[in-house]
Amino acid sequence: MDRKKLSHEFKEHFGDTPDFIASAPGRVNLIGEHTDYNDGFVFPVAIDRYIHIVGSKRNDRQVHLHALDVNETCQFSLDTDADTNLPVWSNYLRGVAHLLQDLVLKDLGLMLNGMSALITGDVPIGSGLSSSAALEVASVLSFLSVCGLVVNDTSIDSDHAVESLDIPATKLAALCQRAENEYAGVNCGIMDPTISLLGKSDHALFLDCRSLEYKHVPLYLKDTLLVICNTNVKRELASSEYNKRRAECEKGVEILQKWKPDISSLRDVTLNDLKKYEAELPHITQKRCRYVVEENARVENAVSALTREDLDTFGHLMNASHKGLRDDYEVSCHELDILTEIAQNTDGVLGARMTGAGFGGCTVNLVKKDSVDQFSERVMTEYPKRTKIDPDIYVCNIGDGARIRWNI
Ligand code: GLA
Repeated sequence: MDRKKLSHEFKEHFGDTPDFIASAPGRVNLIGEHTDYNDGFVFPVAIDRYIHIVGSKRNDRQVHLHALDVNETCQFSLDTDADTNLPVWSNYLRGVAHLLQDLVLKDLGLMLNGMSALITGDVPIGSGLSSSAALEVASVLSFLSVCGLVVNDTSIDSDHAVESLDIPATKLAALCQRAENEYAGVNCGIMDPTISLLGKSDHALFLDCRSLEYKHVPLYLKDTLLVICNTNVKRELASSEYNKRRAECEKGVEILQKWKPDISSLRDVTLNDLKKYEAELPHITQKRCRYVVEENARVENAVSALTREDLDTFGHLMNASHKGLRDDYEVSCHELDILTEIAQNTDGVLGARMTGAGFGGCTVNLVKKDSVDQFSERVMTEYPKRTKIDPDIYVCNIGDGARIRWNI
């Protein structure tokens, strides 16, 4: 990020110098997919690709926005319902603003200020790397800044995300999740905004999505790298099928409660319970529940494998996770399966799986450093041959979570 350049762009557009830059990263989930909304475990990392909001406070209740990368400008008032012709990306900011006012500022007797904001970034949009959570997180930090609640350079690495106030990062994450649920219509879980806020370079976040307790686990990748491959397939089914999976899991819990009345989510179901009662579940529900229960166990095993620096076991768990997502949870797609298959048949690849919601987007691969070139070459030639689509490949650096900078 070139701060001077961003400041210049802001001035070109809004005629003044900006006050701050709020930056929030995308993420790649290493294992623990579709477990967050089942109260389970996830294990994501923040990547060193960010959405930046360059902003300044306005003295009225107007929000003026310019999205640099798509060259779109719009504005809305914090006092009235938004005009339905606004671009879709502005819904995330609108959602965050309204929820921040209702859930946080109201209790403090504060009113949200308007702002002028320039938005830009390098998280690939709609690729399953959480560009929308990054936008929500950057938005919440920006609105807190224009209200004077964050006044110094701040990285969100503590339980007190906001200076002088006890607003834990997990509360801000829940607010962003709700914005996505209510303003983008995706019933997503808590993982994406949490890692965007709490990521730490060279660490993965082991998050319990029920208690919201978390641990930063150092990633000793030794002679391997994490490589992300983008199918470049638009995730058209993602939101409708996503909401359907969530409902299927809830149905499983409802049926299983007949025998296990104490359970409230699939997190509470053990592999043994499932074996005992799975015949009572409709076939599809059975597959969905099996996947979630097994995936939760895989996350715990993956964390202990990484802690003892056992990358082979970690790689096997990644492969098993993909198989479950493909066959039981059925959220993969032809192109994700092809990328995974190419990876799993290349020497030096320890593990490969789809990452994120599925139906397109990206795979994450654990690859020996000296095999990365060969692996990339195979993906670049074989994948287009079999799909007629060009992939993108990014070697992933594990970055830090969100931050605000005032000295631009
Ligand atoms: C999307 C959602 C997350 C999570 C993943 C699947 O990224 O936003 O909450 O459910 O899908 O693991």
